[in-house]
Amino acid sequence: MRINVLTIFPGYFDDPLSLSIPGRAREAGLVEYRLVDLRDHTHDRHRTTDDGPFGGKAGMVMKPEPFFEALRVLSDPGHVVSLTPRGRPLEHATAVRLALEDEITLLCGRYKGIDERVTEEWVDEEVSIGDYVLSGGEPAALVLIDAVVRLLPGALGDHESASSDSFYDGRLAPPAYTRPAEHEGRGVPDVLRSGDHAAIERWRQRRADEATHARRPDLLDLDAAD
Ligand code: ADE
Repeated sequence: MRINVLTIFPGYFDDPLSLSIPGRAREAGLVEYRLVDLRDHTHDRHRTTDDGPFGGKAGMVMKPEPFFEALRVLSDPGHVVSLTPRGRPLEHATAVRLALEDEITLLCGRYKGIDERVTEEWVDEEVSIGDYVLSGGEPAALVLIDAVVRLLPGALGDHESASSDSFYDGRLAPPAYTRPAEHEGRGVPDVLRSGDHAAIERWRQRRADEATHARRPDLLDLDAAD
């Protein structure tokens, strides 16, 4: 898979994409990241990427020309995603769907957003990572990349199966424990040390259901509506 990112801060991605699972997936040849600096697609002395909005109001809007040129230079940008608080919420299902693409291109806006003509011409979907406003799309793009890349076959090691993650089966994950069995007066549920795999699985299902009921009843309501 290839992931292109259009941003005015390509350096923002250096460490996060070289470390941990996103970094290992790149080393293993499962994914290629291509960072495109939008300022390389400006043609004025100040390398301007934003301007005041038509119609007034405070804030700046990202100009269309650098996006259009950068997207044309990519030749085929694949599935184009714009990160914006106006987008549809990022969910596990979004990550699963995007992980099936050969090539995706992420557009990172800043300020008051990207000129709407970029979205009309190029964008397949707008995605938000939550109901809050970030200073730019860059952290949201990193979140999306991490969620997608860990789903690529071979990205996770033997001990990191995605099937025990939260949301994998529409529920939150159960709590997890590791050694020591006793830590500062707190133990580990006996069943987890019993060796009874059926009982352990029942305990995990129950704790996953309890957590989902308590914290994310909306996940269960969605199931009921299916
Ligand atoms: N850009 C600014 N805020 C954002 C958000 N919540 N999600 C995605 N992109 C954003």
